[in-house]
Amino acid sequence: MDGICHRPVTQPDSMTKTRVLTGITTTGTPHLGNYVGAIKPAIAASQDPSVQSYYFLADLHALIKCQDPGRVQESRLEIAATWLALGLDTDNAIFYRQSDVPEITELTWMLSCVCAKGLMNRAHAYKAAVAENEAAGNQDPDKGITMGLFGYPVLMAADILMFNAHKVPVGRDQIQHIEMARDIAGRFNHLFKGDYFSLPEAVVDDRVAVLGGLDGRKMSKSYNNTIPLFVSEKKLLKLVRKIKTNSLEPGEPKEPEGCTLFQIYSAFATVEESAALRREYQNGIGWGEAKTRVFEYLNEQLREPRERYQALMEDPGHIEQVLLKGAERARAEAVPFLDRLRQAVGLGRFV
Ligand code: TRP
Repeated sequence: MDGICHRPVTQPDSMTKTRVLTGITTTGTPHLGNYVGAIKPAIAASQDPSVQSYYFLADLHALIKCQDPGRVQESRLEIAATWLALGLDTDNAIFYRQSDVPEITELTWMLSCVCAKGLMNRAHAYKAAVAENEAAGNQDPDKGITMGLFGYPVLMAADILMFNAHKVPVGRDQIQHIEMARDIAGRFNHLFKGDYFSLPEAVVDDRVAVLGGLDGRKMSKSYNNTIPLFVSEKKLLKLVRKIKTNSLEPGEPKEPEGCTLFQIYSAFATVEESAALRREYQNGIGWGEAKTRVFEYLNEQLREPRERYQALMEDPGHIEQVLLKGAERARAEAVPFLDRLRQAVGLGRFV
């Protein structure tokens, strides 16, 4: 032989494909806004054989915001069941709990040791917390701020860099965190003289709708205006009826643009179906009737996944198995990579 180390002809898929990774913080119950903004596009990507996707329950991140163990536990199960019920392809996508991959926490420490404190001072979430303290006239600007909150972007960088993700689909509010991950990755590569990490890119899809909630503001757990994805039929009807509309009477033409009810419908319906409702608006459909239409449509779309969701929620043992299998696949990559990183920083084995 010529002494050159040839690459094996077939590399593991995950090494040659584009790697797409995203995490879901497990503090809430998935709602229609989550589905349209994040879950639906992620599930579609999980079915694309040309990408290797990594989706995980960011349960270590959940501990930053939530010290209610029951809530964290419940949310982890609900989110996992939701993704599975909606058709996540777990043969293709690697689906795991962050806390099942201890290599991530170890990497967090390594990254913390190269990350400038000043970088973290500039993080939006931290700055907002400080600003709130200042506005409240607190002596200590860091009052109530934990090291978890302060170091949040480092944990997130570790999530991403552990798998050398190329693309990270996120909401706008997370772009800064991806930039920080790039920054930290670059610094590590430079200090330890190697291309250990590839630099991740945020992917923000402006085409996906940001859904309005019951009160017309963005649908969000923090505004308490959400429509959970898998509530009972009765509850769904009640919530759809609660969506805020204006006081126009039946018979008066209505404007679909800017109407939350219309927007929610459109996020689920086909182009033709939306156009049909648009015409009904112009023809003066009454709000009561419009709400019934939207409810019936959503209910029809959600019926099957709701049944699957309920069955999954009754079988946590199955979900546990799926997640443990995902963690095993994740660790098959994380363990050898962390070994390499340990060597890079001087923590390798002696022999
Ligand atoms: N911080 C993200 C959010 O609140 C969740 C998250 C944690 C994440 N780790 C991540 C997203 C890694 C993308 C990549 O939405």
